[in-house]
Amino acid sequence: IRVGVVFGGESVEHEVSVISALQGIEALDKERYEVIPLYISKQRDFYSSPALLDVENYKNLDELIQKATPVVLVKKGKEVVVEPIKKGLFTKPIGTVDVIVPIMHGTNGEDGTIQGYLEMLKIPYAGCDVIGAAVGQDKVVMKHILQNSGLPVCPWFWLYGHEFAQKQEAVLAQVHELGYPVVMKPACLGSSVGITIAHNDEEFIAGVEDARQYDNKIVVEQMVKNLREINCSVLGSCFDCQASVLEEVGKQDEIMSFKDKYLGQGSTKGGSKGGAKCGTKSGDGGMASAARIVPAPVDEATTEKIRNLAIETFKVLGASGVCRIDFMMDGDTGMIYVNEINTIPGSLAYYLWQPVGVSFTQLMDRLVSQAID
Ligand code: DAL
Ligand code: MG
Repeated sequence: IRVGVVFGGESVEHEVSVISALQGIEALDKERYEVIPLYISKQRDFYSSPALLDVENYKNLDELIQKATPVVLVKKGKEVVVEPIKKGLFTKPIGTVDVIVPIMHGTNGEDGTIQGYLEMLKIPYAGCDVIGAAVGQDKVVMKHILQNSGLPVCPWFWLYGHEFAQKQEAVLAQVHELGYPVVMKPACLGSSVGITIAHNDEEFIAGVEDARQYDNKIVVEQMVKNLREINCSVLGSCFDCQASVLEEVGKQDEIMSFKDKYLGQGSTKGGSKGGAKCGTKSGDGGMASAARIVPAPVDEATTEKIRNLAIETFKVLGASGVCRIDFMMDGDTGMIYVNEINTIPGSLAYYLWQPVGVSFTQLMDRLVSQAID
């Protein structure tokens, strides 16, 4: 079976996607699958090459592109063929692909766009379909669905960045109703990019400007007190899915920043509570940087509650494949809120499946089998 792994892309999470994809490729059983790396550059061009399999080559993306073959995916009858674009040096055919595993994060990857492209090519692909991916990427749409389905969501509202100047007074009244501090997030980004916390009007106004750089839709949430971040992965489809063990994510300051998560510049508290700190081996890249306690040190009843909420969230959002649902827990009251779904989580959340006996190789196997079934 020829598996095309699509990764990279123009999103701000490009680098995270490269790490996740190389991990996923390494985990694929090479006796069953032949891997065709399909890298999308920040300019949205497709490339394929064995050079794409070496993480070292990503230090200089311009040089990497020079080493790779620009390709297009073409539908030829019932087959999808990876064809080199340039003649001359790059005429060697790459061949067909049977199934695609998108391992992209954020814009144009996790949001239904690449899924729509694959639909048009009529090729099976792993993970969420167009609508599941799109809903999962837009925090405004996602929160409305969660709320309407009776799932616990922390108090929030949203605004258009471009309307803020005219509506400032009314918006600030809504903020005051939530009460400072509030968290502000661009609606369609991941990996904590563009998230700020405002403790007063001045910070809020600056935060709107910041979030607007990334998305015109801005989500404003009441800040959860003594926040604990607990995540759970769900694997399968609406017909049949299961929840993984939980992880608790270490934090710095009041909320995890992009640096905290991926660049390893945050404080670490992993391991200090008797849990395992995951992913510290080399090559585990960015995802290793945040301190994760697996399983999360929460009692059995809470664990079950979160696992059930994760499954419900997965279902109401129409997800499939492997997702990670992130929760916020009020450290004082124990109140649990669904924060968001990540329809293509970093490292495909493999480290949450190992403890329940599903190896990364088996996880990849499940994703591919589900796609071609
Ligand atoms: N968006 C990143 C990759 C995550 O939340 O896992
Ligand atoms: Mg996320």
